[in-house]
Amino acid sequence: MITIGQYQEFLDRAAAAHGGIIFGLNPYNSSVTPVLEAVEEYVQAPSNASFNAIRNALERMPTDRKIKYRDAIGYLEGVLRAERNEASRLDTETRLRGNPFRVSSDMREYETTFGPKFGKKLQAIGGGGIWMDGGAGEANAMRRFAPTRPDVDCIAFSHSIPSGAAASIRADEESCPNFSYHEIGMFEEYDLSLLAPPQSCDLITDLNGVLYYTQEFDEALRRYLHFLKVGGTLMFTRSAVHIVEGHGKADIGSLADSDYDSLDRWLARILGAKAYRLPRTSSLALKRTSEDVRVPRLKLKDSGRVVEKGHAVTRVYKSYH
Ligand SMILES: C[S@@+](CC[C@H](N)C(=O)[O-])C[C@H]1O[C@@H](n2cnc3c(N)ncnc32)[C@H](O)[C@@H]1O
Repeated sequence: MITIGQYQEFLDRAAAAHGGIIFGLNPYNSSVTPVLEAVEEYVQAPSNASFNAIRNALERMPTDRKIKYRDAIGYLEGVLRAERNEASRLDTETRLRGNPFRVSSDMREYETTFGPKFGKKLQAIGGGGIWMDGGAGEANAMRRFAPTRPDVDCIAFSHSIPSGAAASIRADEESCPNFSYHEIGMFEEYDLSLLAPPQSCDLITDLNGVLYYTQEFDEALRRYLHFLKVGGTLMFTRSAVHIVEGHGKADIGSLADSDYDSLDRWLARILGAKAYRLPRTSSLALKRTSEDVRVPRLKLKDSGRVVEKGHAVTRVYKSYH
């Protein structure tokens, strides 16, 4: 929501550009009026349409007015970006609760998505080792593997168990003591000590899971790396994450397709882990190489579903050194 305080701040800044008097006298004489009306409309009845109406009203302002009111407009645009990101976050959370995803990938899909390295890493896990599957859906691949290797701990988690799968998942936990499934809500907020000890996992997989949807991409990676042993590997599907360095524009509208590489460049800057593309796939991997891991901070600038591009959630970040 745009709060009354934010609305007032915008008014104050606009009024300051106008000698501090416009809105008290006759608001309808001002070229900011359509913007004001659109904001009021949105505050009263927030919707996609009323949100876009604010953007349109801003765009329609004459250039000289935009310059005059740039402080107020800059402030409002910041509020709108946060607002849009919040709407996108709520949308994702609502969808997570509803679990409308494809949640049934089996072993073959994991092998195809992560390539030959996946099978090799899985088989190489020694007795007492751990495979963790984040954003596991029905955890079909893991449930197939677990009974074949009772000496490997298999930990699956997701926001919530997909409807219809709970009974069979709980039954598998009973019959296969090395398999456990955790319904954790949002991974970004979950108490990590309830899942597994730090630096305990040999292999972590995330197939269109948390990293595919989260707004807190850096935090989710930090959390996965927390669980990896030195020498352990995280495999994850490439998602629509774009990272703008320096002063470049950071909104979905100004993205070029080549920006995909920006994620690879940013991953290469993680200290204590080596990033690479998994052979014969478009998926990515991080191998932990040191006790000390440092994931550079990202600041979310824009986020939303770009349906025509077929991506789940496009996220645009700025990275700070
Ligand atoms: C598209 S499904 C993929 C399921 C499974 N990996 C597969 O391929 O069948 C996405 C999964 O990620 C989980 N997920 C997404 N974002 C999450 C988050 N922030 N915290 C916890 N779980 C999340 C969902 O609950 C769901 O299980």
